[in-house]
Amino acid sequence: MAFTVAIDGPAASGKGTISRQIAARYGYAHLDTGLLYRAVGQKVLDGAEPVEAARALRPDDLNHPGLRGADAAQAASRVAVIPDVRRALLDFQRAFARRAGGAVLDGRDIGTVICPDANVKLYITASDSVRAARRFAELQAGGADTTFEAVLADLRQRDTRDQGRATAPLKPAVDAVLIDTSQMDIAEALAEAVAVIERQRG
Ligand code: DC
Repeated sequence: MAFTVAIDGPAASGKGTISRQIAARYGYAHLDTGLLYRAVGQKVLDGAEPVEAARALRPDDLNHPGLRGADAAQAASRVAVIPDVRRALLDFQRAFARRAGGAVLDGRDIGTVICPDANVKLYITASDSVRAARRFAELQAGGADTTFEAVLADLRQRDTRDQGRATAPLKPAVDAVLIDTSQMDIAEALAEAVAVIERQRG
């Protein structure tokens, strides 16, 4: 039976890690929808037109080595403002959500637009300084040459754009359960998410 978990939240809130661990725990398929926007953003950085790039997106585009970087993230946030880009990615996400074995999707508009009927909706957040510190540590571990201030500024700029756009802005669905991970480690955040899912699975 299809069981859909929708997980939204701002960048570096912990939603990706929580989503992957929930998918592994329950055997659900996982879709990181941010990767779709990053792949479109990367194609635009490489010279493509945004709507064409979204319509022509292929699975292999998700393997581009630059997608996890800050340039692709900013480009993703910029193309994500365009309604026809979002529309081009809609059917794929909805079909994924209806998989028979269950699905976890994480992004910005999963509970509000992509899966308004999801069985579980979570909104994972944390203060911007905590999120920037986490992202900075990840980037440093990966050898990137950046500063905490640059990472914080980048996150704030993306949050403002993602929350302020007219189409499918980042916001919690009215029926989402909020989890603030500012003071939690990943095990605590995951335990909260699992408790919500267990209540819904019955
Ligand atoms: O989750 P992420 O940081 O990889 O997402 C990159 C950008 O893509 C994000 O800043 C906004 C956009 N995005 C979106 O608009 N809707 C989604 N469901 C997922 C991502």
